[in-house]
Amino acid sequence: MKKRPVVVVTRRLPDAVETRMRELFDTRLNLDDKPLSREELAAALATADVLVPTVTDEIDAELLAEAGPDLKLIANFGNGVDHIDVEAAIGRGITVTNTPGVLTEDTADMTMALILAVARRIPEGSRIVPDGEWAGWSPTWMLGRRITGKRLGIVGMGRIGQALARRAKAFGLSIHYHNRRHVPAQIEQELEATYWESLDQMLARMDIVSINCPHTPATYHLLSARRLKLMKPDAILVNTSRGEVIDETALTRLIEAGAIAGAGLDVFEEEPAVNPRLLKLARQHKVVLLPHMGSATQESRVDMGEKVIVNIKSFIDGHKPPDRVLLSML
Ligand code: 8YV
Repeated sequence: MKKRPVVVVTRRLPDAVETRMRELFDTRLNLDDKPLSREELAAALATADVLVPTVTDEIDAELLAEAGPDLKLIANFGNGVDHIDVEAAIGRGITVTNTPGVLTEDTADMTMALILAVARRIPEGSRIVPDGEWAGWSPTWMLGRRITGKRLGIVGMGRIGQALARRAKAFGLSIHYHNRRHVPAQIEQELEATYWESLDQMLARMDIVSINCPHTPATYHLLSARRLKLMKPDAILVNTSRGEVIDETALTRLIEAGAIAGAGLDVFEEEPAVNPRLLKLARQHKVVLLPHMGSATQESRVDMGEKVIVNIKSFIDGHKPPDRVLLSML
């Protein structure tokens, strides 16, 4: 590939990242940060040597079929690649990379924050004071639920799942997990984590369940209506992964019916649209909803950009980029 490839970036990235990309590549930026329409995305795929998309770009097989002959690399700004048809890309000789590792701690922090927010009613409480509704302290008012001593079930024990487990252990939660395979014995011991081969059995026994697996065809609606019904009525569910892993309509119905106590959701099935019934539950303080903020720190976004640059640079220098997405990972 040419030494100064045409790199099309679909959204605004931190200034330092954009500046460096302009120094290194023939970079086309999206300065007004408006998500690209399907037509604009098709035009970007037709002209780029390298495309730098984000989670807001749906790059399916149909779009890829119209990609220009020069497109050789899709260097995703983000860890999850479920918005890209990776199989179709690889089939067309296009390499796909992502940005793992650098958003682990921030996303785990946000997951812990959601657990606390739901269990201790933080968003509800934080509105009462500025809204002038605080009549004074009371022994029986605004009571939440203790998290110390409770059971946390982590669905997907990769980097973020493990980082969450370390935090949760420090908060006195016992760690349980379901994963395709055991994590290494040393990590299991360090976390004092219990492995559940059966997701169903784990779900039935947890006080808090956190979704930390990627969205793939195998995890779509992993938390199906049937599985959600296995959860304890006083349990809470948090999700900082992808909305599609949970059957959101079923979850909404179960919370409305009091069959699940609450949820903390940072991701949704039809982002940025959110089920109006979930919004109603949020207004009733039964769920806490965040706008996909898991990795939203200045540090994380700069580090993600740095990873994108390293992936592009090593690719144009003729090396295998460090963060290639392989079909075996999906
Ligand atoms: C990003 C994410 O905000 O990396 C991911 O998979 O979900 C988020 O951390 C987003 O994907 C950036 O494209």
